[in-house]
Amino acid sequence: MKIGIIGTGYVGLVSAVGLAELGHEVVGTDKVAEKIEKISQGNVPIYEPGLQELLQANLRRGNLSFTADLTSTIATSDVLFVCVNTPQREDGSADMTYVEGVSRKIAENLNQYKLIVEKSTVPVRTSSWIKRTISLYRKRDVDFDVASNPEFLREGAAVSDFLHPDRVIIGVESERAREILVKIYERFQDRILVTNIDTAELIKHASNSFLAMKISYINLMADLCERTDADVEQVAQGMGLDERIGSRFLRAGLGYGGSCFPKDVRALIRIGEDLGVDLNLLKEVDRINFNCVNKTVDRLKKALWILKDKKIALLGLAFKPETDDIRNAPSIGLIERLREEGALLQMYDPQAVENMKTLFPEKKPELVYAASPYDALKGANAALIVTEWDEIKDLDLKQAKDQMENLILVDGRNVFNPAAVRKMGFEYSSVGRK
Ligand code: UGA
Repeated sequence: MKIGIIGTGYVGLVSAVGLAELGHEVVGTDKVAEKIEKISQGNVPIYEPGLQELLQANLRRGNLSFTADLTSTIATSDVLFVCVNTPQREDGSADMTYVEGVSRKIAENLNQYKLIVEKSTVPVRTSSWIKRTISLYRKRDVDFDVASNPEFLREGAAVSDFLHPDRVIIGVESERAREILVKIYERFQDRILVTNIDTAELIKHASNSFLAMKISYINLMADLCERTDADVEQVAQGMGLDERIGSRFLRAGLGYGGSCFPKDVRALIRIGEDLGVDLNLLKEVDRINFNCVNKTVDRLKKALWILKDKKIALLGLAFKPETDDIRNAPSIGLIERLREEGALLQMYDPQAVENMKTLFPEKKPELVYAASPYDALKGANAALIVTEWDEIKDLDLKQAKDQMENLILVDGRNVFNPAAVRKMGFEYSSVGRK
């Protein structure tokens, strides 16, 4: 069986490499020729631990290749995984233009039975549209199936998530499609859940929105903690000990960002509106998350009163550690708000600086990118912990202290021990803790 992967963005590239690692013959394609060129030479265009090594090993082994030729990829593949992006529209809904375009291309080049698998995160009922589109535009009366196989990869842990999944969800409507997908994921047979297609599509949206809800929920509890003597870390710990709740995704802080949670929550709200189901619960999740940035700016104001011309060190810019991704990162909202206040920003991130520069080009002295956390702290009136990189958690606070003008530390990710930093002389505030 030959597998074609359409779209070599995050999901597509990891899936191509992961499926090759499982022993399949895989060809990946993308409309951006330079990207294909780079990947074909063994260079990963994103920062993802372990991916480059695995890409190179599978390219060497000869069962993985990349091409910019979509037509030939479609013609020569038995199974096609659609991994193109579904950007967010103004109204929150997912833009399905690329998925529709690829479906038409598949239709035009349908030369033998093929299984078309949607892997991009898509609204429920997308597969029916893909099916209809292929039927509408196909040139020959060739049989095909559509299936859904949502992806649950976390950025920064994508390789391990792909090779050690908690579950593999397969949404199918024919026995033939089921057999093909079960064979592809044979190695994980004890973790495969076969459902109908609508169910598989919804599992993905429901999972991401639920996790986002957990984060907003604990951030709401953090607000209560700040007005009482409770400590949010212990509240989370105590809640998490109940196996029905679980301890993961209960870290209070600056809220969730990334290319998935913010977009998927809003897309599910839209899906609910389209289907006549009230999903106001998720609107609150989104609102609470949005407020995390404002609350952090308020903490700085509480410490410095007026932020105009104050030097603020932002430590971490990526939406979470182990990635260079800044999409929907809380840092973006922070930069915008702090710039509105007239603060001078000195920013550091181990991986995300280049990406951030495309959004906020360096402009001295308003926006400065530093080469190390200590450089960012030079002369700072306050420091703000934005992303919990190990390098930032392990910051040498003595050295930090020597750099700073005022010892004000606002910890947006609760990485430091309040008593210990206060003992060192810092004026310290964090989320939901005294
Ligand atoms: C998320 C899901 O975890 C994956 O299962 C899913 O496949 C992926 O979206 C997707 O739909 O493609 P990802 O966006 O890589 O993965 O990031 P997460 O590790 O889930 O973190 C999301 C955000 O939540 C980050 O900004 C993180 O800082 C924040 N977060 C996470 C918290 O604020 N508190 C927590 O307790 C956990």
